[in-house]
Amino acid sequence: MKQYLKLDEWSIIEEGFDPHTHEISESVFSIGNGFMGQRANFEEAYSGSSLQGSYMAGVYYPDKTRVGWWKNGYPEYFAKLLNSTNWIGIDIEFDGTPLDLAKCTVKDFVRELNMKEGFLSRRFTAVMEDGKELKVEAIRFVSIVRHEIGAIRYAVTPLNFNSEITITPYLDGDVKNKDSNYDEKFWLEVFKEAAHGSAAVTVKTKKLDFHVTSVMSYTILKNGEKLELQAELVEKEKYAGNRVSVPVSEGETVTTYKYVANVTSRNHGLGELVEAARAVLEPAAEASFEQLLKEQADAWGDKWKESDIVIEGDVAAQQAIRFNIFQLNQTYSGEDDRLNIGPKGFTGEKYGGSTYWDTEAYCLPFYLSTADASISRNLLIYRYKHLEKAKENARKLGFTKGALYPMVTMNGEECHNEWEITFEEIHRNGAIAYAIYNYVNYTGDFSYLGQYGLEVLVEISRFWEERVNYVAAKDQYMMLGVTGPNEYENNVNNNWYTNRIASWTMEYTLDVLEYLKENENARYEELTAKLALQEAETTKWQDIIGKMYYPLDEELGVFLQQDGFLDKELVPVRELDPVHLPLNQNWSWDRILRSVYIKQADVLQGLFFLGDQYDLATKKRNFDFYEPFTVHESSLSPCVHSILACELGYQEKAYEMYLRTARLDLDNYNNDTEDGCHTTSMAGTWMSVVHGFGGLRVKDGVLHLNPFIPGHWSSFSFKVMFRGSRLKVSVKGNETIIVNETETPALLNVSGKEFSIDGFGEITAAAK
Ligand code: BGC
Repeated sequence: MKQYLKLDEWSIIEEGFDPHTHEISESVFSIGNGFMGQRANFEEAYSGSSLQGSYMAGVYYPDKTRVGWWKNGYPEYFAKLLNSTNWIGIDIEFDGTPLDLAKCTVKDFVRELNMKEGFLSRRFTAVMEDGKELKVEAIRFVSIVRHEIGAIRYAVTPLNFNSEITITPYLDGDVKNKDSNYDEKFWLEVFKEAAHGSAAVTVKTKKLDFHVTSVMSYTILKNGEKLELQAELVEKEKYAGNRVSVPVSEGETVTTYKYVANVTSRNHGLGELVEAARAVLEPAAEASFEQLLKEQADAWGDKWKESDIVIEGDVAAQQAIRFNIFQLNQTYSGEDDRLNIGPKGFTGEKYGGSTYWDTEAYCLPFYLSTADASISRNLLIYRYKHLEKAKENARKLGFTKGALYPMVTMNGEECHNEWEITFEEIHRNGAIAYAIYNYVNYTGDFSYLGQYGLEVLVEISRFWEERVNYVAAKDQYMMLGVTGPNEYENNVNNNWYTNRIASWTMEYTLDVLEYLKENENARYEELTAKLALQEAETTKWQDIIGKMYYPLDEELGVFLQQDGFLDKELVPVRELDPVHLPLNQNWSWDRILRSVYIKQADVLQGLFFLGDQYDLATKKRNFDFYEPFTVHESSLSPCVHSILACELGYQEKAYEMYLRTARLDLDNYNNDTEDGCHTTSMAGTWMSVVHGFGGLRVKDGVLHLNPFIPGHWSSFSFKVMFRGSRLKVSVKGNETIIVNETETPALLNVSGKEFSIDGFGEITAAAK
């Protein structure tokens, strides 16, 4: 871990260029707008180590599975978010020598991610091998207003020489994924055209026929005066650009404005891509860079109004939480229900950019509280649309009915191929059911149940019904051969969390059936007929609910993570020599599997989800027992611990856990940020503040808050949207002040007291 980024409330700042941390910075300084994302690669050529990454949401490649030992049921492919056309490229040469920071002495390098206004900037002075010294200032962003537009301003000033500068703005579709299974390129050329002042490239994927078209235009100014230049048109395989030469004297600044439209066949007809790109490019280029940047700043201003968290008295914490919120808003904007949130967002290739249970278990609460309900509804509809595929997936694994959602997916099909995860980590089905409950409970949108929710719940319940087995001798239902959320155990019997979430799904499904029967009877009849739901099934679910086996140690008063857990050597993590940590980099898999150490919240995940079903004493006993064995080697772990610790009044522990999640990428805690940021766990960090320190829960349609200020902060505030109102909650000293920023009144319970707050009203409550 190397802390090299400067602390600042609104920006991420890197001072000085170190090629060793460049790939980490490429991840951290990524920009995105929910439709495309771009790692912080340099515009000009760079021959040092770099992970190139320009990503278009939803454009993926089914890369043929590569395994040593094929097992029946494995998916044919692993889906990968594609590194797409490099649209940022602007090559710079002086008298034929390329500017390449790997071959220069770099001075006064500053890279800044301005989170308030949503842009990336970079400035530096480079001394080239022949002594030429020049200054560069570059800014770029992808517009959150015009989703297909990216814009760059790139200014170069020679400091000690006169020369000819050659500038080549280009589009290059001849790119690769680093994680390609067979080292093949995934793109084929469809069209390219270099014209004076513009260029266009269309590429398509070798499989699935995704097309991506990029069209660029540019202008070049010297000392603020626009130049009319003759360009050399350059076309190569999947590449088109303009090569322009400008004589420049010491102290003169040559500025290139490059505007690019990136469009895909996901949103436009195949025959119209170039036209569609031109149609969005022209008005953007006409509007000018400054105007686009202003639009961007205003739009980000609006986003911050909805989702900002202010922490006073701790700049590191302030910067971190804003970074997390910024990345989440850059990754998913919720307008397109075919899109989702990959564990790395648009910041790297790892995890393939695919959808995991992370979305339902960790990300949904962030979008529920910081955006219109339609946004989180779209996250649920995404899974509804995959229901048929989830049913196929269950059939493929030998189930006669029900749906098993995939652990990893792009289009509803499973595309993960580690048996212990693909076949066994079935608890994900529970998170998808839980998300429906969470959404309805938070928003009060009961219409979702009849429209979409019930079908998913019934099919998941059917899966659980068939996945459990009845043990007559014990008159109980068991679930054998699973992997729980703690992936440091495989093929265990009766993982408490999985058994519990399975049974809970059936309970909730029965409740929803009851609700629809009473409140939307015609729809109930229609749906039960469509689903061919038999009374025998619901009776069976009742039976399973009543007789589900939950491993438990009565003496300790704790739920057992799985059968036999107490037979392990119970040595807490604090007694391990730290040289062993992280275990996944130091121990054999065999040793990890046999050990007591827990990768991430497992029993505690259940106590977190189903928090209102367990009393504090139960939560405390389980937390006290499991936390000491937990190594938090998944970035999704500390947040759950932080939230539970808050509830239990373990304030120091809560803060310690919060710190492990908040600056995970900024401080590269897990030594892997170069692969991309831990985007889905960022939502967990947000939850640590709002659900943890803020104590947010929704009970019977009422928003409950139970805030306390971590000792290291002087105050904090956050915004939450709740059933039409937007509330700013500020916690300061002994007071919680809540301002309603909308005209919709709200009912609240703050630190145990009921309040009603009028439109644009304000209340003050005593904090804990
Ligand atoms: C975690 C999973 C998670 C995945 C993607 C793994 O390390 O154990 O729970 O879904 O990462 O974030």
